[in-house]
Amino acid sequence: MTNTVSQLQRLGLSRNPFPPATTGTGFLEKLSLPESWETDLRRRIGELAESEGDKALVIEGGYGAGKTFILRWIEAEVLPGYRIKPFFFENPGVAFYDLANRLMRQVGRYEVAKALWEMLYPDSLEDRQTLFSLEFGQWLASLDNRASRNKAIQSLSAALESHGLAEDEEILNKLSRLIVETGERPYFEYRDFVPRGNRSLVAEQEEPAYFQSLVKILQRITDADGIAFLLDEFEDVALPGRRLNKSQAASYVSTLRRLLDFAHSEQLWVILSTTPEGFKRTAELDESLIQRFGHRYEIPQLDADDAYWMVKQRLNSAHINGHEGMHPFSDDALDMLNETSRSSPRRLTKIMWHATGLAAKRGDNPPLTGALLQAAEAELFSGALEG
Ligand SMILES: Nc1ncnc2c1ncn2[C@@H]1O[C@H](COP(=O)(O)OP(=O)(O)O)[C@@H](O)[C@H]1O
Ligand SMILES: [Mg+2]
Repeated sequence: MTNTVSQLQRLGLSRNPFPPATTGTGFLEKLSLPESWETDLRRRIGELAESEGDKALVIEGGYGAGKTFILRWIEAEVLPGYRIKPFFFENPGVAFYDLANRLMRQVGRYEVAKALWEMLYPDSLEDRQTLFSLEFGQWLASLDNRASRNKAIQSLSAALESHGLAEDEEILNKLSRLIVETGERPYFEYRDFVPRGNRSLVAEQEEPAYFQSLVKILQRITDADGIAFLLDEFEDVALPGRRLNKSQAASYVSTLRRLLDFAHSEQLWVILSTTPEGFKRTAELDESLIQRFGHRYEIPQLDADDAYWMVKQRLNSAHINGHEGMHPFSDDALDMLNETSRSSPRRLTKIMWHATGLAAKRGDNPPLTGALLQAAEAELFSGALEG
């Protein structure tokens, strides 16, 4: 290991800057996109922000085209400028409750409960005689018997309703329990969100209204102007081997429709990534859904300039001793790659990772030329079948 590190240093790199898994962002201090991608995406997102309609955007691209990277970029670099709080979902399930489950676990039960409580307390909950305001933890500790808990559930329900967070009695009750029972269990479990479960925290048959309350709550407690759901690999529905059966397909379509409905009625953005096959499959299941996506961004192939740019920014994140540009590679090293390899972020990243490792191991001297990259390309993709 140390050996490899010193070999890399000899090449002017502190580490191999290309993520071997070639999925996701890897380690970069700041995420950035090729300029033309960035301009196009920023314009579309700007239009969505202005529009009165569904705030929904689809990022479409094949395997390794950069979908996850783009979603992460939108999350980190774009949405904060609109004061939109993002929630990221990796490979979400097709059932609506999977989303509620993942969402609430992402935020954390204690955090939701505490923030909600702080918003509602003391106005509507404080006993008028109390001299000192309580901290959330103290308040929870004071609920040491059934009677006090029931009383708390009642006043919380009333407070939630008066804040316009929910109307339905059962939903109010579940949300209040979510807060009150946090003392016993300060985290969420999957079964909290299984509607028919014994101690479920979701209201049966009330999924959309319940979810809408959660969205409202998140909006209020995050102090953002809106929130966004970034759904990565919603695409997966179209993959062979995950072919949906009839009821899953129905679930998928209704989940998507409900999300779009919220995107319309609440200040909620829905940004999802999909493969072209996933997009096509969704269209087959329900054409009208597709039309509701305000924008569809098809990720372009990398042109030569973008490919150089992408490689350089990774190299730059690891350069030492004042090196820059394509170092330790020659300035035209990418020219000899096949168009298919050069135009795909994933293939390119993988080739660069492999070639960098190979050169370090063998103790090659810079500049590393296109021939090395060609060799790496042949080794990795000679079958030409591998993505
Ligand atoms: N703009 C970019 N800058 C640097 N690396 C990128 C960029 N876009 C994609 N990559 C890299 O390419 C590979 C594939 O990207 P990824 O977003 O995982 O593709 P997808 O999600 O479409 O399968 C990853 O290693 C990723 O880090
Ligand atoms: Mg991905």
